[in-house]
Amino acid sequence: MAKIVVTGGCGYIGSHTIIDLVENGYEVICIDNNSRSHAAALDAVQKITGKKVQQYKIDLCNYEDTCAVFEEHTDISGVIHFAAYKAVGESVDQPLLYFENNLFSLINLLKCVDEYGVSHFVFSSSCTVYGNPDKIPVTEQTPIKMAESPYGSTKQISEQIIQDYAKNSAAEHILLRYFNPAGAHPSALIGELPLGKPQNLVPAITQTAIGKLEKLWVHGNDYPTRDGSCIRDYIHVCDLAHAHTLALGYLEQERNKESCEIFNLGTGNGNTVLEAITAFEKVSGQALNYEIGPRRSGDVIAIYANKDKAQEVLGWETKFKLEDIMATAWKWEQELKAGKTVFN
Ligand code: UD1
Repeated sequence: MAKIVVTGGCGYIGSHTIIDLVENGYEVICIDNNSRSHAAALDAVQKITGKKVQQYKIDLCNYEDTCAVFEEHTDISGVIHFAAYKAVGESVDQPLLYFENNLFSLINLLKCVDEYGVSHFVFSSSCTVYGNPDKIPVTEQTPIKMAESPYGSTKQISEQIIQDYAKNSAAEHILLRYFNPAGAHPSALIGELPLGKPQNLVPAITQTAIGKLEKLWVHGNDYPTRDGSCIRDYIHVCDLAHAHTLALGYLEQERNKESCEIFNLGTGNGNTVLEAITAFEKVSGQALNYEIGPRRSGDVIAIYANKDKAQEVLGWETKFKLEDIMATAWKWEQELKAGKTVFN
């Protein structure tokens, strides 16, 4: 049973990925300082999988503390690195906080990968690296554009660090570029827990429907798209999670052609904001209170993935549709309100 370190394992995508890894026979160790996440996420993981995952509550920016985990577990074969700050607006206000946290933690981890002979490294990147693309869908070869925010810059710089590092490292690396992760585990025991007012569309929709927010503002309907609202590729968090398990397997079977490979993780379908709202209304059976507002600065007009590489090379198939994303996110929001989750 391969032993994997998952950083940020108490976060939204990290916790769903731990479930998928455990269900596929991996032993997982979680590193998370819970600065932006809840330790209770691992209780939910245990309820779902029946396995207790060990957590090290340490800050990856502390090199000695990070090394100590690898000292204790000399048989770690892979690292999946999620831990990072991800609020776009906050990164504009506090860029140094973002560069310091997201880059120091990555560098410390890569030093440990080298020092302790870890074989595989998977990094959580974002389609934000493509900026406002000239052509859609975007492939892994689509040129990187100037980042729209310091958060986006940290993803671009992190990718560059890993690509440079990979050239002289004994380890093999994968960069996974996520499109728009959304939805929740079908058990509704785990899901997205935004800090403060949600910035992302799906939690903003469900929080409006449950009454936590008064209304949903649609950020612009005058874009050159089929209904005037922006187009994104919403990918279910469980589909996304499974791609990490496949990525590790791909490296373990030594099928990678390069020491650092990149994969887009999206469904290949673009949906507008208004289509997402319609999908929610359909599955919830209720009308959403929304209003068209001005554009949000920094928003990309339209982006969705060409997912051929992940499909053909990793054998990745997405199982969940937009309606499933909305249905699972809605069930999760209702369970939270009912106080039925480990987070209440
Ligand atoms: C955002 C970040 C991206 C990051 C990703 C992480 C920006 C510009 N981009 O992506 O860098 O990787 O989150 O999850 O912030 N919308 C509304 N009303 C709302 C919320 C969103 O109309 O209340 C619209 C947005 O204008 C956008 C779409 O919904 O067109 C998706 O927005 P969001 O969920 O924030 O994702 P991104 O902006 O694509």
